[in-house]
Amino acid sequence: SSDLIFIIDAEEKIKMMDNLMKDIRKVLITREQLQKRVAEMGQEITRDYQGRDVVLVGILKGAMPFLCDLMRCIDLSVTLDTMVVSSYGDNTVSSGSINIKKDLDKDIRGKHVIVVEDIIDTGITMDSLVPLLKKRGAASVELAICLNKKERRERDVFVKYIGFDIPDEFIVGYGCDYAEKYRNLPEVGVLKPEVYVRG
Ligand code: IMP
Ligand code: MG
Repeated sequence: SSDLIFIIDAEEKIKMMDNLMKDIRKVLITREQLQKRVAEMGQEITRDYQGRDVVLVGILKGAMPFLCDLMRCIDLSVTLDTMVVSSYGDNTVSSGSINIKKDLDKDIRGKHVIVVEDIIDTGITMDSLVPLLKKRGAASVELAICLNKKERRERDVFVKYIGFDIPDEFIVGYGCDYAEKYRNLPEVGVLKPEVYVRG
């Protein structure tokens, strides 16, 4: 019917994300590429964790889009939990420690934990978080990270599931923010320089 056509047209229009895309200089990874790779990662996890008690731990807020897509591609009865963490991100003091702003809701003793994160950069955050979760008695702790800036790594962190290797550029979208914005952009891109000036 004509109503249906209108809905499809509206969806197509939103898909283009014209307002947000005005601020993007170039797209590095498209919506379609993300969906395809995330589905593959879900299949890998499904294969690797048969018969195990899995907890997906999403690191808020960045992991939200990736977590939502990934969990729906995992054909196991996983449970979900979330954390809000920030690394002190400073090499001079207390490097290797993290600030937990919101902790897990449930005990992870004996569980197979998969930490789900949007991007790994220096690796400092994950390098501190993984041992902490192991110390709490998890049966195993692995990482599923959508974007990997491997050139920037300062800590030797093993990432079992990597979505994409990306160059050393500041990116936004698919959970990644600039000043808390652009997380809802469905593609991964690089901002135009004037956006930073505008602040
Ligand atoms: P690291 O691996 O401890 O250096 O920290 C990774 C965190 O830095 C991520 O969770 C992001 O919040 C942030 N981050 C690193 N690179 C980018 C980027 O290019 N865009 C947006 N956020 C980034
Ligand atoms: Mg983050």
